[in-house]
Amino acid sequence: MAHRKKIIAGNWKMNKTATEAKPIVQDILLELKDYDNCDIVLCPPFTALTAVSEALSSVQNIRLGAQNVHQAASGAYTGEISAAMLRDLYVRYVIIGHSERRQYCGETNEIIRQKTKTAIGGSLKPIVCIGETLTEREEDRWKAVLTTQLEEGLAGFTEEDLAEIVLAYEPVWAIGTGKTATPAQAQETHAYIRTELARLFGQSTADHMRIQYGGSVKADNAKELLNQPDIDGALVGGASLEARSFVGIIKNACGA
Ligand code: PGA
Repeated sequence: MAHRKKIIAGNWKMNKTATEAKPIVQDILLELKDYDNCDIVLCPPFTALTAVSEALSSVQNIRLGAQNVHQAASGAYTGEISAAMLRDLYVRYVIIGHSERRQYCGETNEIIRQKTKTAIGGSLKPIVCIGETLTEREEDRWKAVLTTQLEEGLAGFTEEDLAEIVLAYEPVWAIGTGKTATPAQAQETHAYIRTELARLFGQSTADHMRIQYGGSVKADNAKELLNQPDIDGALVGGASLEARSFVGIIKNACGA
């Protein structure tokens, strides 16, 4: 089986000014400056990217991520941010298709596919989010929903494209609700996603792709979740806003 290095990303969402970001990054660095047990990514809002980029400039092990990118390379798209603008700030990763953007900004699987393509073309590593709503879970439609998100969101991608992508499975009902999928439930879903990846893109691609779990990940549940064979990391929202809890997740899940 392929070795997949775990990857833990903090999604700050619309929280923290540039001024507020600096001390958090400093505190994270005090604990994780030389940490290499997993890949670590910080995704502050656009306005704090420069401050976080500067704070991380002396380390190699903590990477900068953005929370969105526009699908076009440049042009008349008022208020949008391009892949080249992000790369210029030393951004390496970008979250694409978060359920909040699907819900509030009308992002469809097709838009997500375009953004993912643009990100890869712009040398950014996309963290592509998929996940079902509570109703879809309760009506036992989650498999069909996830399959459609994968088929449409990743349509036409090559093996090389897929090697750049990290997937994040985030059940919408577990995001910011304090409700996590049980480790067994999350594992079952991740295993299903990997089977679908194998069907769509071949076993080797599926074996190499990292699939993060997201949705109310905390220091006290991270270890059990990330111990599951098909869970390759975490996309952390609320608990990434404080250095202590974010570091706690990383050390509990990947070793001190
Ligand atoms: P949460 O958010 O950890 O606050 O549930 C996760 C996410 O939306 O990425």
